[in-house]
Amino acid sequence: MATLTELTDQLTSDPASWEGSPLISVSQISTSGLQLLFQTAQSMRSLVRSQGGDERLKRRVLASVFYEASTRTSCSFQAAMMRLGGTFIHVDGGKGGNTSASKKGESLEDTIKCLECYTDATVLRHPTTGSVQKVALGGGTVKPVINAGDGVGEHPTQALLDFFTIWDELGISLDVSGGEDVGEGKHEGPLVVVLLGDLKHGRTVHSLAKLLARSSLKHELVLRYCSPKALEMPEHVKDYVKDFPNAKQELYTDMIDAVKGAHVLYVTRVQRERFENPDDYNAVKGAYVVDKSLMDVAPSKMIVMHPLPRVDEISTEVDSDDRACYFRQMENGMFVRMAILALILGAP
Ligand code: CP
Repeated sequence: MATLTELTDQLTSDPASWEGSPLISVSQISTSGLQLLFQTAQSMRSLVRSQGGDERLKRRVLASVFYEASTRTSCSFQAAMMRLGGTFIHVDGGKGGNTSASKKGESLEDTIKCLECYTDATVLRHPTTGSVQKVALGGGTVKPVINAGDGVGEHPTQALLDFFTIWDELGISLDVSGGEDVGEGKHEGPLVVVLLGDLKHGRTVHSLAKLLARSSLKHELVLRYCSPKALEMPEHVKDYVKDFPNAKQELYTDMIDAVKGAHVLYVTRVQRERFENPDDYNAVKGAYVVDKSLMDVAPSKMIVMHPLPRVDEISTEVDSDDRACYFRQMENGMFVRMAILALILGAP
């Protein structure tokens, strides 16, 4: 079985490179692969809007296995499968409703090995960082495994839908040699992205920072990390980004300073479930709240994103602002996951 390093840039504009592949990390996706994915997601959006879906994944079955709570990732994958004529089985391995045989001591590898006897691919979320990679690349499984979030590690399909949303909303141009960018390409100058909140525990911001940095853009990339000291972006993410000369990293603690000249404000929830000591959570939980007063001083074209769920870090009064695009972002999740499933299951 290949290692993750061997899979770097493995997913390209050739649909054959996706077929049967696991999706563990954003490091697997080349810029031409992104272009194919974005084009496919756009056509999925048109398909859903015009006729609801089609039958290209008829008689294909997805295992949806979640050992941590989820609304968007689990439901959008399930809806994606059904919109393309397929179906799914769901295993809830979470603490509250664990109905899987892991309760009897079965290993994660054995559970997934069992499920793939019935299905064509697995979407897996697990609280242990690295666990999805271990299952997907450890040699025990033969069908593709898609990482739906591994602890504080990665959430690659979220990063893909996030980048699709940025590309789609702002008209970002990808630099694909020999290929024509499919975006409107209306964005000019650098792309300034503020990542705000719990950058320590937020796997979505880890994956998004890496994906934006590693992709060839026709724009300089400025990543502004704005967080309380205790929740700073981990060094391993900053070190990863450092290797890409087109990406600049800046640290902020004041969100009004951070949004000056920004094109994207990506807000994250302080993740209570990742704190061992409730006092540590209480000390940082209300550190940032995006409200009307911030939006009044923010750039007029800056989009506001959030992977959701939110707690109180974005006031609901912001929802009606045209710049708030987190619900559009969430809908894009289904289109991007339809594209991922179609490509991995060989029916783009
Ligand atoms: N954004 C995200 O991963 O949401 P869920 O936890 O609801 O899947």
